[in-house]
Formats: sequence, C-alpha cells, structure tokens
Amino acid sequence: MKVYDSVQRVLVSKEELQKRIAEIGSEISREYEGKQLLMVCILRGSAIFFADLVRAIDIPVRMDFMAISSYGSGARSSGEVRMVKDLNTKIEDLHVIIVEDIIDSGYTIKYLKNLLLQRNPASLKVCTLLDKPERREVDIEGDYVGFKIPNEFVIGYGLDYAEDYRNIPEVCVIAPSAIK
Ligand code: PRP
Repeated sequence: MKVYDSVQRVLVSKEELQKRIAEIGSEISREYEGKQLLMVCILRGSAIFFADLVRAIDIPVRMDFMAISSYGSGARSSGEVRMVKDLNTKIEDLHVIIVEDIIDSGYTIKYLKNLLLQRNPASLKVCTLLDKPERREVDIEGDYVGFKIPNEFVIGYGLDYAEDYRNIPEVCVIAPSAIK
C-alpha cells in the first residue's frame, strides 16, 4: 500500500506550498529585521511547515518546540487543551511567532496565546499554514495565513489521520475509503 492510495485529491500542491511559504518568509524577514525573533513549532503537525518556513526567512531566527494535547475530540470542543512539552527558551523580551499547521476550532491557538502572553514576550503573533474558518468556535485569527481551505479532512505536509500520512509532500483531501 502507498500513501497516495488514501488520497482523494491534492488540495495544495508542492509548488503552491513553496511559493506561499517564500512570500510569508519574505514578509516575516522584512517585519522582524533588527528584532530578536523566536519561532515556536507546535508539534507535531507543524514540523514540516516549520522546517520549510524557517529556511524561507533570511534574518537570524531562534527555534523552539512545544507540544499540546487535547482530551479527545469531545473535549476539544469544550476547549480543553493542555501542554505536554513546554519551551526551553525564556521568551521575555523576545519577539515570538507561534507556527501551526492548521487553525480549526481555534481552541489550541487561544490556549497557546494566553499561555505565552503571561510570560511577557516583546510581541506575539501566529502563523498558520492552513485555516478552516467554517469550523471556528472561538473568535481568533492567524496573523500570517498560508491558505484558507474548505471544511474537508486534510492530510499530508505534516497533517495526519490517526497518525498516518504526515509524510505526503502535499496537502491532500483524504479518500473516504481510508477513513476507518
Ligand atoms: C491539530 C493542529 C492544531 C490543532 C488545531 O493538532 O496541529 O494544533 O489541532 O485545532 P483547533 O483549532 O481545533 O484547536 P492535533 O491535536 O491533531 O495534534 P498534532 O499536531 O500532533 O497532529
């Protein structure tokens, strides 16, 4: 079995991803020149986007990693998320960008922003590759958004279904036959 057997169609191609990432990278490089920038990767979904994004930025960037967990899908809708791995970096006086693969209900980003703002960063912004506005339950937006997408289940480029398919190089809509 190959990963593409589980793909219905490609939603965002490799070329579209790299073009948009280059644009966002240039924007961030311009806006943060002369500032101490820390990019925060939210494991695991954003790992692949993060790796490409930091390499599209041509000012000095520090990197750190956080992991978040929800209490299952039922609890997610009540906004219950918790941290399972914290930053190693003290962010006071740093300019911080949280990097996510997707904003869906918005609960994860809301939690992360509240948590990191308590630590008094010099500034805090959110960069997300994908945005599913139809699914939003809290009023929150990304500052840098790669692509707004329809309410379909997407896999690839870091995004999983039951932990599989993160290694597909494009953002794809999952085939109904792959859903268990
Ligand atoms: C996904 C995604 C975001 C979050 C978005 O993470 O990476 O962190 O859900 O959903 P929300 O806007 O509804 O909060 P997930 O819990 O699937 O973990 P993963 O990144 O390890 O795949």
